[in-house]
Amino acid sequence: MGSSADSLDELGPLEPYRIKVVEPIRLLSRAERERALKEAFFSVTYLNSADVFIDLATDSGTAAMSDRQWAGMMAADEAYVRSASFFRFENAVREVTGYRHVVPTHQGRAAENLLMGVLVEPDHVVLSNTHFDTVRAHIETRRGVALDLVTDAIWSFDEPHPFKGNFDLEKLRRALELYGPRVPFISVTVTNNMACSSPVSLDNIRRVRALADEFGVPVLFDASRFAENAYFIKQREPGYAERSVRDIAREMFSLGHGCWMSAKKDALVNIGGFIAVSDEALARRCQERLVLYEGFPTYGGLAGRDLEAVAIGLREGVDEAYLEHRVGQVAYLGALFEQAGVRCSKPSGGSGVFIDVQALYPHLPAESFPDVAMGCDVYREGGVRAAAFPFLLKSIDSAGNPTSRTFHFARFALPRRVYTQSHLDYVGRVMARVKSSAHLSSGYRCTYSPEVLGHFFSRFEPITP
Ligand code: F0G
Repeated sequence: MGSSADSLDELGPLEPYRIKVVEPIRLLSRAERERALKEAFFSVTYLNSADVFIDLATDSGTAAMSDRQWAGMMAADEAYVRSASFFRFENAVREVTGYRHVVPTHQGRAAENLLMGVLVEPDHVVLSNTHFDTVRAHIETRRGVALDLVTDAIWSFDEPHPFKGNFDLEKLRRALELYGPRVPFISVTVTNNMACSSPVSLDNIRRVRALADEFGVPVLFDASRFAENAYFIKQREPGYAERSVRDIAREMFSLGHGCWMSAKKDALVNIGGFIAVSDEALARRCQERLVLYEGFPTYGGLAGRDLEAVAIGLREGVDEAYLEHRVGQVAYLGALFEQAGVRCSKPSGGSGVFIDVQALYPHLPAESFPDVAMGCDVYREGGVRAAAFPFLLKSIDSAGNPTSRTFHFARFALPRRVYTQSHLDYVGRVMARVKSSAHLSSGYRCTYSPEVLGHFFSRFEPITP
């Protein structure tokens, strides 16, 4: 038994909470898992949650809430107009972001719908480090163009760049020179989910703001994982080790004009979102659309109890003991995968572990769907669900010509405060088995692909050798 602080550190990320409520989970037998996979058309998006042992499909809306959040929900005010819960929600958002005008929405994409509806017109070009796919879809349905100007570091899983989520500032300048008057705003996604959930440095954000000022363009944050980003800045950016995460987050938000957030991530709730901006006129215009699509301005698309859970969860989300454990869990799982010989994006990011699927199945061409093979293999081997998706990035080259390139990865997203270290050890073992038998996979063929949302609803069958 070790007694020094050092040997205790070796235990891995220690849970800064104890368990008050439990939810049983069951591991189906291998034969049952085989049957479930077949019934799910060999696609993890058709697997029932009840048939999944460890569900790492997403970190969105899957957090375990605290006793204080549940107590807050019980004591919530369900008044339609000006409920007390709204004001607690508004105060929490103001405190954490520093933006004065707060518009509640039922989740992130509802906020996107309102904001893009107000800000984006046909032929507008919205510049981001990387747009999340619902953000891109809202821009494109308004007949705008969404460009991803992330650094090239994301293309190398092995390159240990501490801030792979950063903007490529040269590309940003080039895009502003080319499209300046057509750019309604710059969107900074923190952490940069589709870029392996890698963070964006404050230095990079400061330079983005300077460029934005030069061209007279506002800066908005997609702040769904802002707390994890602030924690990474504290850990990785010189000069911030002694600053609090709350402080770093406030400094970050002070470099923008507003944000929107899917509260289902860093606000530790199962549903919720908001827009927060410093411009009152912009907030008013969002509120007008809010009444149409979500609800009255003091509840958005949420019940009073949901507002209450966000108000409490937002503050818990910037607690440093929680963040140390959260980020530590992702790094711990990443290290287990690396030990098993699986190539992961380094250093580890916020939402989960991102792996290079093509490197896991080097013998399978894209037409044999290595991402489907991986999803099936981790489920078959251990009842684990993870999502693999090809993600299309649209950018420009240094001459300003349009480019597009698909990024292939699988994400093992960790729900917040849900799984313990033994669950992670288990997933590590499952992955080691998948790695050792991956060369035996003959891949899959697609049997059905709908026109819309193909990557969610396609069906497959194994290729028999
Ligand atoms: N922005 C980012 C960066 C996101 O990751 C998401 C959702 C959204 C916006 C949309 O928010 O789901 O509340 O409507 N990401 C989830 C995920 C779905 O699995 O990464 P939402």
